[in-house]
Amino acid sequence: MMVVANAVPDARAPAAEPVLRVRDLSVVFPPRRGAPAVRAVDGVSFEIAPGQTLGLVGESGSGKTTTGRAILQLQPASGGSVQLLGRELTTMARGEVRRMRRHMQFVLQNPYSSLNPRMTVGRILTEPLLVHRSVPKDRMAERVAQLLGFVGLEPDVVQRYPHAFSGGQRQRIVIARALAVNPDFVVCDEPVSALDVRTQAQIVALLHDLQQRLGLSYLFIAHDLAMVRNVAHRVAVMFSGQVVELGDTAQVFGQPGHPYTQALLDAVPIPDPARQRAKLAASPPDVEFRRGAAAAGPCCFGEDHARTGTPHWHWLGDGHGVSCRFRPESG
Ligand SMILES: Nc1ncnc2c1ncn2[C@@H]1O[C@H](COP(=O)(O)OP(=O)(O)OP(=O)(O)O)[C@@H](O)[C@H]1O
Ligand SMILES: [Mg+2]
Repeated sequence: MMVVANAVPDARAPAAEPVLRVRDLSVVFPPRRGAPAVRAVDGVSFEIAPGQTLGLVGESGSGKTTTGRAILQLQPASGGSVQLLGRELTTMARGEVRRMRRHMQFVLQNPYSSLNPRMTVGRILTEPLLVHRSVPKDRMAERVAQLLGFVGLEPDVVQRYPHAFSGGQRQRIVIARALAVNPDFVVCDEPVSALDVRTQAQIVALLHDLQQRLGLSYLFIAHDLAMVRNVAHRVAVMFSGQVVELGDTAQVFGQPGHPYTQALLDAVPIPDPARQRAKLAASPPDVEFRRGAAAAGPCCFGEDHARTGTPHWHWLGDGHGVSCRFRPESG
């Protein structure tokens, strides 16, 4: 095992110049109404290569949405760096960030609240084109029709209002709106979790198809590990504001190096009950999980993990690493 103490995660990741490079990103929410400050994002680093998807997983409150918002400059960072297409966003003037928005877009979980009910689909899709002056006026209708085609909607829907559409169709409109400015990078924050299972599969297939056709890079935030396994080239596992494991999807799911990743994977129900029982008998997850500093694995984790010491990054293999607070720097 190769150990690089305090190395920046993903320092040796993809060969192509990344579309997005996040380094040591932190977001601290100040104390409010007696509640203490929250370090929602705590030293997060990763990269996303052109045309690739990084899946961001972790339990509720681990900081996934805040990470996405801080990358898009919708939430000020307390520290660290975000480079999009080689340009630093965190120190950029506001006007320039606004211009950079045509390269980075957001697709949110709830297609019901993210579309203005008083705007027709035509207006919803025209607005970003006007804001970014990316298409001449006489080409607008053509561009809107093209966007609708990208997401599998008929051109005549431009006259209709969001309420006339199903959840899946609305999410198609949200995706078309995100694509209007021809972005390089899209944050998809739980993009299908408000939809029924069949519609989920259709929207995931659509996102995949658009990635292939348009060369998009995605940060794909999701609870559903099975879905992330299907869509992501690489996966980052977040725990308590930090990335505790990062690697190619097959590595992270196949040989998880961090007990927290293992715990997340173990929470996925295995359809065959006999296999589930055999698995539990072979390795009682709770004991494994709490073994703490005595564990022989690359990271020992344990109850004090979030509170103790400075984490060290350990590379386990090519582009696959874990963070551990207990393991000695040289170990
Ligand atoms: N505007 C805010 N002010 C204060 N605290 C916040 C704010 N937004 C988020 N937090 C806190 O930051 C932490 C991370 O929240 P975040 O929404 O990023 O988690 P998440 O991983 O996206 O969770 P979920 O899976 O439930 O969407 C949580 O403790 C949350 O309560
Ligand atoms: Mg969230």
